[in-house]
Amino acid sequence: MKSRCCIRLCLSWIASACLVMLAQVSGCASVRVYQMTPYCSPVGGASLLYLTWRNDPCHTMVVQWLTEGEDAAWVQYRTLARTLGDREEWQGVSGSATHLDGGLFLQRVELEGLAAGEEYELMVGRFPAIERFHTLPEELSRPLRVVLGGDCCGKIELLREMNELAAREEPDFVLLGGDLAYSGRRMRLFVRPYRELEKWVAFFAEWTRSMRGEDGHLIPMVVVLGNHDLNNWEHQEVGKGAPLFYQFFPFPEEQVPLQSYRTLDCGNYLSFLLLDSEHTHPVAGAQTLWLKQAFEGRREIPWKVPVYHRSAYPAVYSFNHGVSKAIRSFWCPLFEEHGVKVAFEHHNHTYKRTYPICAEEIDPVRGIVYLGDGCWGVKPRTPTSLDKRWYLAEAQSWNHFFSLVLDEKGLHLETIGRGGLVLERFSFSRGP
Ligand SMILES: [Fe+2]
Repeated sequence: MKSRCCIRLCLSWIASACLVMLAQVSGCASVRVYQMTPYCSPVGGASLLYLTWRNDPCHTMVVQWLTEGEDAAWVQYRTLARTLGDREEWQGVSGSATHLDGGLFLQRVELEGLAAGEEYELMVGRFPAIERFHTLPEELSRPLRVVLGGDCCGKIELLREMNELAAREEPDFVLLGGDLAYSGRRMRLFVRPYRELEKWVAFFAEWTRSMRGEDGHLIPMVVVLGNHDLNNWEHQEVGKGAPLFYQFFPFPEEQVPLQSYRTLDCGNYLSFLLLDSEHTHPVAGAQTLWLKQAFEGRREIPWKVPVYHRSAYPAVYSFNHGVSKAIRSFWCPLFEEHGVKVAFEHHNHTYKRTYPICAEEIDPVRGIVYLGDGCWGVKPRTPTSLDKRWYLAEAQSWNHFFSLVLDEKGLHLETIGRGGLVLERFSFSRGP
């Protein structure tokens, strides 16, 4: 009886696999699988709309949205009027459309020459709704708020809950440390057509709906690459393996095409070093050389914060994993040399805070605190116990993100968990 049941299960699995393969080879690329996706929100806005930055976050903004047809990569914007008499004429800017398989088009318009620390109104393509966005201040004239986290869309319900909590922090932007839509899978042969695209669409739909400030303005996202953003999960050749990620997020033109590592320079007060922890670029070699130069060119910037996916000091995975060892060998000494106070790591699906670490030893004076470990919208894992990892000061099975506030006094962090609970709170000052 049991063996008959197993045979039946095997046959049904083989039949499903054959159907998927048949669909893949029989020209399904021409079938529009997203016809049921609502591209227009109930209030007339694009329902798959997100903002990000390729360049200066004080004076530019990249506006991107997904449409079923070609639409028009066209945006109108103006400064938000303080009074009726202040209302400006709309300015129009055109961009580019990229056809994605499955009948979807990615529209991209980059706004340039914007005023720093300003509020803008925005109309996107043919959508009649008026959206809003902000640019960052050039100087730290007010506290800057950033939400950081990673490993996002393991479960859509968790993503939704944590997104809504993150938006309540009213961040200037959100920095995501990889594994965004969980589009990649190890077994590609039996994956149904467009599954990767469907996962990204679900991620963006949730983002557009929930990631807004109290007045409805759009909160931009800045991202780094994680292993689940690749299309087959494993380490890739340089610049290959994450085609949708590289289509959905723009990178500075002056850098080598498909180079995922870069900086985000927030005025004269904060720079994020956004790194690729061996997903499409090795840790050692060109990326480390670039990191050294990036630090040297930012000696006058008081706060420099690295963000990457895999951990130098993991709370779940092996301390001796090759990539962790490479990060500790090649990047951490540069972090220490250039006065980094805190670095953000992900990938382990749990919460961790390390002791301050310098030269792979606890050092309360010169040490860097490594925070992580990527548990925004995934089921938390049980971390290794503190007595087995010398560097862990705290490790818990917590869904969380970090709410960062930078002001004149220092860099302040809160760990926010489910229900909006503040789980930890700590600050860093620049010191002498
Ligand atoms: Fe990961």
